[in-house]
Amino acid sequence: MTLFRARVMDTPADPFTGGELRSDDDCGILVQGGLIAARGPFETVRAANPDEPVLDLRDGIVLPGLVDTHVHFPQVRVIGGLGMPLLDWLDQCALPEEVRMGEVDYARGVARDFVTGLVDSGTTTALVFGSHFASAVDVMFEAADRWGLRVTTGLVTSDRILPEPLLTTPERALKEQAELAARWHGKGRLRYAVTPRFSLSASEAILESCGQTFTEVDGAFFTSHVNENLREVQEVRDLFGGSSYVDTYDKFGLLTERSVLAHDVHPTDAELATLATRHTSVAHCPTSNSALGSGLFPLRRHHEAGVHVAMGSDVGAGTGFSMLKEGLQAYFMQRLLGDEGLPLTSTHLLWLCTSAGAQALGLGDEVGDLSVGKAFDAIWLLPEAGDPLAVGLGNAKSPEDALSKVFALGTSSDIGGVWVGGDQIAAGRWRMPPSH
Ligand code: GUN
Ligand code: ZN
Repeated sequence: MTLFRARVMDTPADPFTGGELRSDDDCGILVQGGLIAARGPFETVRAANPDEPVLDLRDGIVLPGLVDTHVHFPQVRVIGGLGMPLLDWLDQCALPEEVRMGEVDYARGVARDFVTGLVDSGTTTALVFGSHFASAVDVMFEAADRWGLRVTTGLVTSDRILPEPLLTTPERALKEQAELAARWHGKGRLRYAVTPRFSLSASEAILESCGQTFTEVDGAFFTSHVNENLREVQEVRDLFGGSSYVDTYDKFGLLTERSVLAHDVHPTDAELATLATRHTSVAHCPTSNSALGSGLFPLRRHHEAGVHVAMGSDVGAGTGFSMLKEGLQAYFMQRLLGDEGLPLTSTHLLWLCTSAGAQALGLGDEVGDLSVGKAFDAIWLLPEAGDPLAVGLGNAKSPEDALSKVFALGTSSDIGGVWVGGDQIAAGRWRMPPSH
């Protein structure tokens, strides 16, 4: 058991429906077997547990581990390809690199870079877009397992339009998905995600095979892309006989409460209604949407339609792993939308980057905030003296103001510690899989 002593901020209640920031200046969190066994004013928790070792983290701020609901593992080395819209960026940046994942040793190095990127940025839970190669998905699962990260991922499937090495058939996809799911789904903190790349590169036959795997693997997730770019949306409509993009997935039973669609920058009202009815979540990826010029995310329309929204980095179209940066960019985007935007406070941003993500991934009872009964997945922001974040925090006028400064100024180098399930996996520049 360990008793953590810290300034803690989290969002146990949805601020879009009246929830407030919970900020405790001198909080005691007792962690036993990876779970939060008690929480309260430090002196109270201390009095009830006088013999437990205390870890004093009062310099800085402890937040829940960050949740990234859309991030591509094979794209870590192509982050920063600027100046292109989606389909050109795929052709010139992403897909050539994804072809290289066919070589398992190369994929292993990429998986190492990828997991390091997540850990260094304080991301402890992620829905990860995998690779078209089963061997590369295996090394991704292995890497996540070694670090104990909460990762949901799977084989990416496509049977048209992409470079030939990235294509498969429904039969082969069924077999490889079944094998991967049998090996990894439910092992430790890992789960399987059925992952057609996007309807543009998927025939009805491959979507049907995805639907079959989704039904057969109990508790599996589904993820893909939707309504990201206007040219893409039009091409999907043409390929599917005028069907809406959302309906191309819905037709095969792929939209449920265990489904997450990335982007949705250009939805129709009917599509939003379908997503709400199915309880399917949307991963909003603002740095990617800006970098590719995809458009301004209509958060207000999602909110009013009752569609659950969480955040994704969309590495490598997105410009890095930091969910703090994504939160800030989400705020900017809503500002730029003027009257059509949804004004966001720092409390909304924390919610979107933690609890909302946990709920989208069906983990709302396990992680997302630091309440009793949840796993201790946490990050410790510890800016060095003189660092802009340290200066900002030293001059904050309220907890909400301090949290605004975290999103405005916080970077990966301000993260002084990362814990998953009570295990510390990073401290400053030091990082280590927990089993070592
Ligand atoms: N649509 C299909 N594949 C991708 C991808 O890799 N990145 C993004 N942003 N959109 C996609
Ligand atoms: Zn993506």
